[in-house]
Amino acid sequence: MLYGAYGYTGRLILEQAVKMGQRPVLSGRSRDKLLPLARQYGLEAMVADPGVPEQLRDALRTVQVVLNGAGPFINTYIPIVEACLDTGTSYLDITGEIPVFEGIFSYDRRARDRGICLIPGVGFDVVPSDCLAKYAALKLPGASMLEIAFVGLKHPSAGTLKTMIEILSKGGIVRRNGAITPLPLGSGVRKVRFTNGSFTVMPIPWGDLETAFYSTHIPDITTYMAYPASIAYAVRLIAPLVSGLLSVEAVRRAARAAIDKRVSGPDEEMRLRGGSFLWAKVSDKTGKAVEAWLDTLEGYRFTAVSAVHAVESVLRLGPTGALTPSIAFGPDFVLGIEGTKRYDSL
Ligand SMILES: NC(=O)c1ccc[n+]([C@@H]2O[C@H](COP(=O)([O-])OP(=O)(O)OC[C@H]3O[C@@H](n4cnc5c(N)ncnc54)[C@H](OP(=O)(O)O)[C@@H]3O)[C@@H](O)[C@H]2O)c1
Repeated sequence: MLYGAYGYTGRLILEQAVKMGQRPVLSGRSRDKLLPLARQYGLEAMVADPGVPEQLRDALRTVQVVLNGAGPFINTYIPIVEACLDTGTSYLDITGEIPVFEGIFSYDRRARDRGICLIPGVGFDVVPSDCLAKYAALKLPGASMLEIAFVGLKHPSAGTLKTMIEILSKGGIVRRNGAITPLPLGSGVRKVRFTNGSFTVMPIPWGDLETAFYSTHIPDITTYMAYPASIAYAVRLIAPLVSGLLSVEAVRRAARAAIDKRVSGPDEEMRLRGGSFLWAKVSDKTGKAVEAWLDTLEGYRFTAVSAVHAVESVLRLGPTGALTPSIAFGPDFVLGIEGTKRYDSL
């Protein structure tokens, strides 16, 4: 089942699933948006609102696996995961939200007992970075520090921007000594060499702060995204104001409405032309370090392909428990995504 099938990313996943020979049951809360889409693809549709648990259970009872594409996931994951535990349905999503990862990992025991898996983050956030971090960590047992950076996501969708508002309203963070620790937005800026050149990167609250800790147990983690140096500098100046403003619900509501009006997400040409470039470095207290690089598809294209591969892997392997992509499928899972290459040196 594909839940949230009619959203921007939901539709990309649907197209990819059909292309790969799957015939998912489509679901979402709006009958008016869901039924025309199901008719267009000749697929079964089941309307289910996360606020109506019986509806969710009736829908989920009919399938082995649900892929949730309806975000911000902080608003959708609990009712869907709870319903999955009732119906014995495995759950995957494409979140990048730290509280959602944390929440889902706390269901590990119940998922194992029920014989299902819960695998959040099977999109661009966090498959390539989680697989790369795990790959590097396996080469340096006992590492105490992990840094991950990426160049990409040049054209975010409305859903991604709305989710970013929720994330940024909480301010910047890193992981230190195993705990999530505040770091003012705009600080910690540095340069990183990727396969496509050197870029200024800025710490951002990326999902790996939770998932890479779960996958590698490394206690100090910083996640960075590439920005033009001028933007990183501007963010440092205005960050306190932005976080302060975004902590007011009325401001967040106005921002969401503006995004819905103006943002449509990358078009097909941008998705085909774009690419993503990642770097990970693990180091230990003696100064030993291992670096690795990964080049792959544009983020939304990657998400669609990776999410469908993840569903197929769950059906094939039948993992159980609350897992990260690299734990569920191994660090080489990402290499199965077309156009992906990993490097040990530059
Ligand atoms: N992991 C990644 O790399 C990755 C990549 C792409 C997107 N994402 C994330 O995926 C999410 C969706 O992005 P998008 O671009 O597809 O956004 P979108 O076009 O705004 O679509 C969001 C979808 O979620 C549904 N939805 C939202 N809140 C809901 C709720 N409370 N109950 C039921 N359905 C709800 C919407 O349904 P209605 O129309 O009925 O509201 C819609 O189908 C975002 O959180 C985004 O950050 C992650």
